[in-house]
Amino acid sequence: MAYIRTEIIEVNAKYPESTVIERTAKLLHDGELVVFPTETVYGLGADAFQPAALERIFAAKGRPLSDPLIVHIADEHELELLTTTIPTVAKRLAHEFWPGPLTLILPRGPRVPHLVTAGLETVAIRMPRHPVALALISALGSPIAAPSANRFMHISPTTAHHVFTDLSGRVPLILDAGPCEIGVESTVLDLCSDEPRILRPGGISLEALHTVLPDVQPPIQRNKVDEVEEILAKKAPGQLLTHYAPTVPLLLFDGTIEEMHTSMLAEIGRRYAKGEHVGVLVAEEDIPTFQDSGALIYSPGSADDLVRVAANLFAGLRTLEEAHVQVILCRNFGVHGLGLAIRDRLLKAAGGKTCQ
Ligand code: TXA
Ligand code: MG
Repeated sequence: MAYIRTEIIEVNAKYPESTVIERTAKLLHDGELVVFPTETVYGLGADAFQPAALERIFAAKGRPLSDPLIVHIADEHELELLTTTIPTVAKRLAHEFWPGPLTLILPRGPRVPHLVTAGLETVAIRMPRHPVALALISALGSPIAAPSANRFMHISPTTAHHVFTDLSGRVPLILDAGPCEIGVESTVLDLCSDEPRILRPGGISLEALHTVLPDVQPPIQRNKVDEVEEILAKKAPGQLLTHYAPTVPLLLFDGTIEEMHTSMLAEIGRRYAKGEHVGVLVAEEDIPTFQDSGALIYSPGSADDLVRVAANLFAGLRTLEEAHVQVILCRNFGVHGLGLAIRDRLLKAAGGKTCQ
């Protein structure tokens, strides 16, 4: 694609300057793309009702047209523009979790361009809680379709710098409001099947959804790779196991803390002997174990503080990538609360396999 000069503008994360918001909304109105912060990750936005602008999203990311986009709204009334029916359960969930990191899959309204839904009869909708995102959608006066602002197959960006690394020369404007608070993408919840099911675990935990929706189904187990690929390719294109691939291989270790330590140290030893540069992503409390191993260590935080681990996870993977390690060995952080989303991203980066 043709080179576009990329400008980065700082914007106040709590009280976005109206001049910046107006100028950015004008670009969207004119059919351009802009990168804006959300509480989860940075998004690459276009006016959801302009097909020509939507096409640019796919070109800028190098993303296949078969991967549908999330539409971001600032007011529940906008739901009526996007869907045919608003089930009571959707209203309850919206009341409890919006604005916030929950995406609802609802029946597609007739006005929603096919480019948004990848031809599906459903549409993904969320109301983000980042003040910049909300101000931008309101100023545009139209919902904004936005995937994460990374190149296809790369890790989602949680800082403007991450976005610049992936998309400089491909988008005219990046709004920089500092690091994203949550750090993993929204939970995608399917409300169009017989049972409500999480398609992608994310910023709202399964446990939290349970309080409003006792019959919510957890994401499909990712250990049966072929079966999962087949189901997800139909239900949720873009959720394939290799979706969030760092540019270096990642090995995810399971087992007790002691087992993980032992097998990770053995793997580091084998790789070190071959002259490989190894990176490890471990909890703060694991650092002494790996201090003298020769591996480059990144810690996103304590395993007891998953909010912090999630917030730093993607930055950690990018840091290790940029340090040119040849492999990343990663401990697991369990499956409770945000642990499920963290595990999902790591498992995808690991191609769906774990090491014992
Ligand atoms: O936190 C987030 O959700 C971020 C921020 C920018 O809002 N966005 C994001 O978008 O992660 P993206 O495009 O990277 O991931 C959206 C995923 C798609 O890969 C797809 O699996 C799912 O949402 N999705 C979108 N529309 C869908 C639909 N109609 N049915 C099922 N899944 C859908
Ligand atoms: Mg993405």
